[in-house]
Amino acid sequence: MEKMVNVYFFGKKYSVPADLTIMTAMEYAGYTLKRGCGCRHGFCGACATIYRIKGKNELKTGLACQTQVEEGMYVASIPYFPTDKRTYDIDE
Ligand code: FES
Repeated sequence: MEKMVNVYFFGKKYSVPADLTIMTAMEYAGYTLKRGCGCRHGFCGACATIYRIKGKNELKTGLACQTQVEEGMYVASIPYFPTDKRTYDIDE
């Protein structure tokens, strides 16, 4: 049987397979990722995430597409990161 862990997305508890990343665990839990999701390979930085483990004070950061879920993980995403998205041509 697949090992499951309890994680918290935006304050709500979910039981997800232990071998998922934060991003795939959110999709497993039913979220449709419209923001904070880009390349899915650790390059773009769009999925910057902060989290902490239940019972520990340390606040950790990571990429949701690269960070594996852990038991008791509380997750929040960082909105609008990276913030400097060019919308004009550099030569103008
Ligand atoms: S989606 Fe691009 S770094 Fe995670």
